[in-house]
Amino acid sequence: MKRHNIQLDSNGKLRHFLSTEGLPRQLLVDILDTAESFAGVTEQSVKKVPLLRGRTIVNLFFEASTRTRTTFELAAKRLSADVLNLQIASSATAKGETILDTLANLEAMQCDMFVVRHAESGTAHFIAKHVAPHISVLNAGDGSHAHPTQAMLDMFTIRRCKGDFYPLNVAIVGDIKHSRVARSQIHALTTLGVHEVRVIGPKTLVPSEIKELGVHTYHDMRAGLRDVDVIIMLRLQNERMSGAMLPSEHEYYNRYGLTQEKLAYAKPDAMVMHPGPINRGVEIESSVADGPRSVILQQVTHGIAIRMAVMSMALSHSQPPQGAV
Ligand code: CP
Repeated sequence: MKRHNIQLDSNGKLRHFLSTEGLPRQLLVDILDTAESFAGVTEQSVKKVPLLRGRTIVNLFFEASTRTRTTFELAAKRLSADVLNLQIASSATAKGETILDTLANLEAMQCDMFVVRHAESGTAHFIAKHVAPHISVLNAGDGSHAHPTQAMLDMFTIRRCKGDFYPLNVAIVGDIKHSRVARSQIHALTTLGVHEVRVIGPKTLVPSEIKELGVHTYHDMRAGLRDVDVIIMLRLQNERMSGAMLPSEHEYYNRYGLTQEKLAYAKPDAMVMHPGPINRGVEIESSVADGPRSVILQQVTHGIAIRMAVMSMALSHSQPPQGAV
């Protein structure tokens, strides 16, 4: 029997966006196509469409964020939704209120969507299981589990630069073990049908079970980068590391930092990506991060269109409140 995917409604439409794992290829393509239609909005002088007028979206960020929180807020505003940014540090959470009680209070204010970032894997999924039926939950990053909108903005950036996914060899480099971004990217890349996904990093940061996701593992960066079309660099997630998982940052940079010298092993038109925040001189040389092959800031721009797409698709399953125009 086919297992029910909590992310989809009974018609197979997106209701929550918690992970790229297990979603059909066509749904991922629909997200990319919908984002393409919104990309033009962000270039207009009046950067707004009335699609979510009368809807209320709450940003619940229990963990630090610059890019994800601000682009979710901009995306909601460009769709004409009302946006609440709950200040977690000064909220009743600090007095011991549970997440579910906080959410019940927000539901009582007739909110329509929760955007959730949390340090614990599974938090967004837990919330999605407990919210009222008309509410959608979007995962803005949970522990080392998933960061699906980051993965989709990365897919959008790759498709805009390279066209078809099928011929591409993609390398993901660095701290695979702790990376929710890498997991979400691997599921999206394999579902979209790229030729090969490689993961590159030290043995301590590349778990052996990652092979079960259909990727090839490399511990030698020059070998792993040979003939790749796309290089995705990852941040060292020091806050999630316990014990000595690394040699010194200097040695890590020598072996796995993306320098001009190592970049030369990839295809001459290989694109360089990083979800941010970047650590210059640890994961990547400044001349590469700021160079002509880097699309790091384009990724940030594309985050707005992708988040507009996911918000509008997820809220299309429920009706706007009575009287909304
Ligand atoms: N890429 C990303 O998630 O960045 P933030 O932590 O700044 O949101």
